[in-house]
Amino acid sequence: MQIFIDSADVAELADLAATGLVDGVTTNPSLIAKAGKPILPTVKAICDLIPGPISAEAVATDHDGMVAEGRRLMELAPNIVVKLPLTMEGLKACRTLTAEGAQTNVTLCFSAVQALLAAKAGATFISPFLGRLDDGGQDGMALIREIRTIYDNYGYDTEILAASIRTPLHVRDAALAGADCCTIPPAVFRALYKHVLTDIGLENFLKDWKASGQTIL
Ligand code: E4P
Repeated sequence: MQIFIDSADVAELADLAATGLVDGVTTNPSLIAKAGKPILPTVKAICDLIPGPISAEAVATDHDGMVAEGRRLMELAPNIVVKLPLTMEGLKACRTLTAEGAQTNVTLCFSAVQALLAAKAGATFISPFLGRLDDGGQDGMALIREIRTIYDNYGYDTEILAASIRTPLHVRDAALAGADCCTIPPAVFRALYKHVLTDIGLENFLKDWKASGQTIL
């Protein structure tokens, strides 16, 4: 499963990219606003930092506006993925931009039939927001499983990008459900490394090693 980081904080992304485990990045208008810097240089800096797919979202709501914004974003770098909302206009823009060779990420997906439409529109990625479904008392992971089945039934190659991730369990379950990618907030990514038994085990190994008086170098 590809690991993307869900952030527009360039310093944080540089730190996480140094792990060598980051395959791509997703941003959205809220994350760009939170980062507090202009969108175009911010997205360009992220594209230069990480060679994988970098999603940047159009904010127009009509086809022509989204296509114009998508074309501008695509000028930034070859690894740009134009993010478009799952609306009728958004999917029309997805078809137009896909025909022009763009990579696209259809976002704000909350149902399997929406995901079916996105695949038919040629989306490179579909982003089901499982955390927001869970927040509302629905089963976000069930949506990932449904989309996996539908895409496999018909051989769609749109990649399932599990989004709105809240916990390490979400990452585990998305991987088990067959998501192609998972976009993870920085704090959750850092938490993936953690296990209390790892910490205790390491502490004991180091204590015993110190008592032995040995060195390796
Ligand atoms: C995905 O591309 C979105 O940026 C993101 O995962 C949304 O997550 P949230 O529900 O935590 O805002």
